[in-house]
Amino acid sequence: MPFTVVSTRGPFSHERVGGTYRIRYSAGGVSSSISRLMDHEGGTWVCLGDGSGDQAFEVEDHGNYRISRVIIGRKETRGFYEGYANSTLWPLFHYFRERVNYNQTNFMYYEIVNKLFAETVKRNIDANTTIWVHDYQLALLPGMLRNDGIKNRIIFSWHIPWVSPEFFSLLPESRQLIQGIARADAITVHTDWYKTNFVNSYRFVTGSDDSIDSRVFHIPLGIDSRYYASKAKHAHYPLDRRDRKLIFSVDRLDYTKGLVNRVLAVEKLLSLYPDLAEKFIYVMAVNPSRASVRQYQIFRRELEFHIGRINGEFGNVNWMPIVYMYKRLGESSLISFYRHADVALVTPLSDGLNLVSKEFVACTNDGVLILSKFAGAAQDLKGAVIVNPNSLEEMANAIRQALTMNAEERAQRLAMMKGNVEKKNLTWWLNRVRALAARKLHENSS
Ligand code: UDP
Ligand code: G6P
Repeated sequence: MPFTVVSTRGPFSHERVGGTYRIRYSAGGVSSSISRLMDHEGGTWVCLGDGSGDQAFEVEDHGNYRISRVIIGRKETRGFYEGYANSTLWPLFHYFRERVNYNQTNFMYYEIVNKLFAETVKRNIDANTTIWVHDYQLALLPGMLRNDGIKNRIIFSWHIPWVSPEFFSLLPESRQLIQGIARADAITVHTDWYKTNFVNSYRFVTGSDDSIDSRVFHIPLGIDSRYYASKAKHAHYPLDRRDRKLIFSVDRLDYTKGLVNRVLAVEKLLSLYPDLAEKFIYVMAVNPSRASVRQYQIFRRELEFHIGRINGEFGNVNWMPIVYMYKRLGESSLISFYRHADVALVTPLSDGLNLVSKEFVACTNDGVLILSKFAGAAQDLKGAVIVNPNSLEEMANAIRQALTMNAEERAQRLAMMKGNVEKKNLTWWLNRVRALAARKLHENSS
């Protein structure tokens, strides 16, 4: 059963540098997972072409699959991507009410770009294709395809949290959005809570009593755990840390990831337990993301201010508590850190799932995962030390607990988590979606 996969982010874009093109790899879990699936499964991937050189690569054969790009200009990028997708939907669906920007012009661009996607999808399907649409940037797409008479199976996978009905209804366009998504045959989300919220939002906003709940599925995204585990076996030590414990984190630079609270928790740890000074090193890798969005620029300054302040206060010529890197890590350094970290800190304020937590579990042999209760992955990884990232004391104590945890407890917790990550892996996720695609078509498409 061939898929035409649709997401805003493709695997990479082309940037024009002088007279040549350079590849820029995408950030984020959706594109990294789909890349891996497409490598194995083949098919077509419809994505955004917003790189400065993408126009020359509108259609591109890449290994086992084909990429078909939707080329948009600066105005559309501003209104659709920086505007409606990332300054309205993103903060709203992560419960950052005060950051939500309500702007009708941006919504108009959101509609325009969703329509451009619909046109490109239509050129990339035949009668048997299943159309698999991903994430909040493309909520109107299933409805637009149906209105254009497309009868193919459509699966919609939503990768961020789904908020409560009242919160969702803050959005002036809530009805259009949820009705657009609901025209898909099946909708997947990562947790049972998001499913409940989606179904209740649909009823609340549309007033309809239809059987939407039979078409919404909670299927948490998994990783290719075998791949990570086998790569990790050969991972070298990523730094010279003497006999200090290594604490590691890696995230996109995003206010939802709880980065400021996390460095404040390290400050709290050193204030509460001064004996821990020089006993650990915290490597904080931050992947540049959405740098053209103003809120992200401001957030970066805030984060770096606190890191500088804390290092200045607690560090000395031989030791700094926080080693900060603002760059995308390549796969082999990422896996080296996963393998050799004693503790991984994954403490978002709100996160649809969080693949980093699962990748760490697949790679480590005896590390401890500290995981926010507000990451979707907390439903899967019961062996983690679960924290509320709003409490600096709780996080500081969790770090201390992790640094001093005995080998037996570490092993027990890890075994529980590895069991989940190995069973509910990427193939499991794909097979669940395949099974949905094989179901009887919804009445929308009959
Ligand atoms: N990642 C990466 N290099 C980095 C940072 C992250 O390759 O420097 C990858 C990471 O391996 C993971 C994805 O980006 O697969 C992040 O996914 P996650 O679900 O944790 O968060 P998102 O960024 O999608 O919100
Ligand atoms: C999250 C979203 C994805 C998005 C990714 C990176 O994982 O769920 O849809 O692609 O962040 O963000 P970007 O704005 O670079 O696509």
